[in-house]
Amino acid sequence: MSLFRLNASIRVEGSHSREIADIVEQEWSAAHPGEPVVTRDVGLDPVPADMWPAAVAAQMASEDQLTEAHRAARAAATEATDQLLAADALLFAVPLYNFGVSQHFKAWVDMIFTDPRMRPPAKLGTEGKPAVLVTVRGGNYSPGTPRDGWDHATGYMRRILADCWHLDLKLVESQFTFVDIDPSLAQFKDMAAQFRADAEVAAHQYGRELGGVLTS
Ligand SMILES: Cc1cc2nc3c(=O)[nH]c(=O)nc-3n(C[C@H](O)[C@H](O)[C@H](O)COP(=O)(O)O)c2cc1C
Repeated sequence: MSLFRLNASIRVEGSHSREIADIVEQEWSAAHPGEPVVTRDVGLDPVPADMWPAAVAAQMASEDQLTEAHRAARAAATEATDQLLAADALLFAVPLYNFGVSQHFKAWVDMIFTDPRMRPPAKLGTEGKPAVLVTVRGGNYSPGTPRDGWDHATGYMRRILADCWHLDLKLVESQFTFVDIDPSLAQFKDMAAQFRADAEVAAHQYGRELGGVLTS
C-alpha cells in the first residue's frame, strides 16, 4: 500500500493545511506501518510556469519535432502522473489564495491533464481511489458571512478530484486562520479554534477511512 501526498502551502512554519494533513497521514501510516508515503511539495518546489505550455506543445508535435523543453515537460508530466497512479490513497493539502485555487496546485493538475492516461477515452487509474482534500482559508466563508461564495477554489478542486478523476473524495476544511496574525480578528479567536478543532476531528476520521480502518 502507498499514500501520495501533495502540499501546496507556500510556507512550512505555522501552516494549518500541513498540520491538519499530518493528522490524516499519521492515521494512514498507523494503519499501514512502514508503507511508503510519496510527498510532492508544489508549494515549495512548484512546477515551472513554462512547463505546461511545453507539455501541451509536446502532445501536438511529432517525435522528430520535439525539443529538449518538450521532452523535459513530457517527462515531468509522466512522472507526476506515475506518482498519482501508483498510490492506493491520496492526500491533498491546499490553502485558499486570493479567492482562488493555488496556482501551484493548478499547474500540477494541468501537467497531469497532458498525460494521455488521464484523458478520455482512457480508463482512469484514479477511479474510486480514496482521497482526502484538506483546505484552509484565512477568512470565514461560512453561509451568511460577507465572504459567502467568494471561495472559488474548493469547487474547482472538487471538480477535478471527484468529478474528473473520480476519486472517492472527503473534504476537511478549516478557516479563520488569519486570526493567528491579524489583531483586528481577536474577537473571533474562539470561533477560529472551533473551526480548527472540527477540522482535526474530521482529519482523524477521514485519515482512518483512508487507511481502511473505518468505512464511510
Ligand atoms: C498571498 C496570500 C493570499 C491569500 N488569500 C486569501 C484569500 O483570498 N482568502 C482567504 O480566506 N485567505 C487567504 N489567504 C490566507 C491563507 O488561506 C491562510 O493563511 C492559510 O492558513 C494558508 O495556508 P497554510 O496555513 O497551510 O499556510 C492568503 C494568504 C496569502 C499568503
